[in-house]
Order: sequence, then C-alpha cells, then structure tokens
Amino acid sequence: MTSKLWLQDYGYEAAKKAIDTSLSKLGLNYMDLYLLHQPYGDTAGAWKALEEAVRAGKIRSIGVSNHTVKFLEKLLPKMEILPVVNQMECNPYFQQKELREYLAKYNIRMEAWYPLGHANRKLLTDKVLVGIAEKYGKSVAQIILRWHYQEGIIALPKATSLEHIRDNVSIFDFELTNEDITAIRSLDKGKGTHDPDNMSNDVTLGMYKIH
Ligand SMILES: NC(=O)c1ccc[n+]([C@@H]2O[C@H](COP(=O)([O-])OP(=O)(O)OC[C@H]3O[C@@H](n4cnc5c(N)ncnc54)[C@H](OP(=O)(O)O)[C@@H]3O)[C@@H](O)[C@H]2O)c1
Repeated sequence: MTSKLWLQDYGYEAAKKAIDTSLSKLGLNYMDLYLLHQPYGDTAGAWKALEEAVRAGKIRSIGVSNHTVKFLEKLLPKMEILPVVNQMECNPYFQQKELREYLAKYNIRMEAWYPLGHANRKLLTDKVLVGIAEKYGKSVAQIILRWHYQEGIIALPKATSLEHIRDNVSIFDFELTNEDITAIRSLDKGKGTHDPDNMSNDVTLGMYKIH
C-alpha cells in the first residue's frame, strides 16, 4: 500500500500531521510505502517527519517521486534513511539512463510511472516493439513491461480493463534476449512529458520556491 505526501503538507510539522491524517483516513496502523510526491519546497523537513514515522512503525519504507539528480544531490546528504524508490516517468521512449545510474549507486530502485507512455499510440505501435511482440506471441504492452522488469525497474502500469490487467500480470513466462533489450534501449528519445527541473512556469507550483 503506497501513499504520497502532497506539496501543501511539506515541512516537518505539516508532514507529521499529514502522515497521521493518511493513516486515519485509510483506517490503517501503518503504510507500506510513503513518497514525497514532488521535489519542491521544504523537502528536507518533510523527509525528517517521514523518517520519524518509520522509526515509530507508522511507515515501513519511504521514497521520493519526480526527483531528478539535481534535487537528489541536495536532499540525499540531509537524509538519515535513504529512499527505497524514486517514482519517475520511465518507458522505452524515456529511459532515464543517467538518473538510473545515479540511483544504482545508492541502491534506490527506479519505479516507473507512465510505463506504457500513458497509452501513447506511437509507443504501443512502435515497429521494433511490434516485431518483438510477434516473435513471442505477446502484446506490445507485455514486451514493454517485461523490458522494465529485466532492466530492474519496478513498473507501475494502470489499467481499468480486465483484459489489460490480465495482460500486464502475464509477463513472467518468457524472457527477452540481449538483442531484444539492445533494440529496445535504442528507442530512447531522452525526453518525456514531464521535466521536474523546469517547472518554474507551472502555475500550480507558483507558491513554492523552486531551487
Ligand atoms: N508520481 C507521479 O508524479 C505520477 C505521474 C503520473 C502518473 N503516475 C501514476 O503512474 C501510474 C500509471 O500512469 P498512467 O496510468 O497514466 O500510465 P500507463 O500505465 O503508462 O498507461 C495507462 C494507459 O494504458 C492503457 N493500458 C494498460 N494496460 C494496457 C495493455 N496491456 N495494453 C494496452 N493498453 C494498456 C490503459 O488503458 P485502460 O485503462 O483502458 O486499461 C491506460 O489508458 C498510475 O498509477 C498513476 O497514478 C504517477
């Protein structure tokens, strides 16, 4: 069970309250994983509250989301407990290679949001992926999720249709070859839909100082 701390609850005191509010709204004694949703504002203060909640048994594991190398370089030295995951946009068109190398140094796992590109048509009909899918008798979505898995990335696909849900859990009965992985790696465009380092014009974040 994962939940996240949203921006208005950043800072030590506000985060402490928000964790208790999350627990009472969910009717739980503890949460498995709790994330800092964005890298802005008083993240260090909020993280301190998350660390305390871990020590108090209210949260099992803590992590971050949308934290680029730039933000992690500032925050990591202030942490006593390192994040277990960084939840970031990641799929074959936006592979986050530099960030993944950085996270690996600290044993922080990459957790991918938009693993299927938010159902990006171009991605789901990409010729290279379609070719690999035909070879294994699998769907393109399954190839993409299997690629995440073999790269050591935790994929977080969302699906509302039963057919998609079934598809997305059936990726453990085949294995991509090194050639397949190399072909998928070559699809990286190095750019996604969201760039946390350049959010200064985002009106929803105007009240927070972007460092
Ligand atoms: N941390 C953050 O800042 C952040 C930002 C964005 C998203 N997220 C989270 O990331 C998760 C995924 O985001 P997302 O749902 O937008 O992107 P996604 O998982 O990449 O794409 C979901 C879309 O793909 C379709 N789909 C799912 N499985 C499929 C399959 N096997 N074949 C074909 N299409 C398939 C779904 O259709 P159906 O619904 O029709 O099945 C839906 O339209 C969500 O839990 C979201 O909350 C986090």
